[in-house]
Amino acid sequence: MLEGYAPGFADDALSMMSARTASDRAGFVLRTLKPGMRVLDAGCGQGTITRGFVPVVGPLGRVLGVDAEPRQFPAETSVSTVDFVAGSVYELPVRSESIDLVYAHALFEHLSRPADALLELRRVLRPGGVLALSTSDWSRARLQPRTVNVVAALRGHYLLRRRAGGDPFAGKHLAGLVEQAGFREVRSHARFRSDMAYRDLARYVESRLDAALSASSVDRDQLASAARSAWAWVNGGDGSFQQCWVEVSGVK
Ligand SMILES: C[S@@+](CC[C@H](N)C(=O)[O-])C[C@H]1O[C@@H](n2cnc3c(N)ncnc32)[C@H](O)[C@@H]1O
Repeated sequence: MLEGYAPGFADDALSMMSARTASDRAGFVLRTLKPGMRVLDAGCGQGTITRGFVPVVGPLGRVLGVDAEPRQFPAETSVSTVDFVAGSVYELPVRSESIDLVYAHALFEHLSRPADALLELRRVLRPGGVLALSTSDWSRARLQPRTVNVVAALRGHYLLRRRAGGDPFAGKHLAGLVEQAGFREVRSHARFRSDMAYRDLARYVESRLDAALSASSVDRDQLASAARSAWAWVNGGDGSFQQCWVEVSGVK
């Protein structure tokens, strides 16, 4: 089941994600891939990262993208070794122990039951198979300047993420959860990326707060105050933003 999934499917969210590639986002795990391997990309979205695995596993390999929202899938793939299938990370439409590498980018921060998702990813991995996750951690995002308005607007942003079932600081806890799920050789590394410009982030946060205010009256005062701060952020001076991505790998 798709929880609230806070970013939604508006043009700004989709265009940010469509720029993602496997060499940039999955570089930490590409070297472990070999021709003939079977790869699963959970929460694959539009599949731009997913398709980057195809040349690496070659004509004898298989790549499967699974997402709860199939409306984002590419219209046609024209490559017979990649498939996109609708499904939930809690109940994957995949046989047990049939996958060599399970990958997920920007999924775990949107999940309310990350431990259950990890058990399901573990189920589909063959013994010795590799898990590779990349998840944001807003607590370590670098924002300059981090004004009072930026902090207040982001607090509203985190509230919306949590209301949708997610955890904006998910990257912080992920390695521990992966260990608890029974994976070994767990490694974790923080990488900082300029996902979007400082002002674009301000507009993104403001638009989500405005939309939440028009959609419901829950947490109205808190969200209205955060929206005013986001407006001030949008209309203030420029700055810089780097998101913290926590890359966690482990072996079944
Ligand atoms: C931020 S997007 C990331 C998409 C892609 N991995 C990328 O990085 O460009 C998160 C994706 O996870 C999907 N998603 C959210 N909850 C899910 C669930 N429980 N099972 C499967 N997919 C889910 C959403 O539909 C969305 O496409």
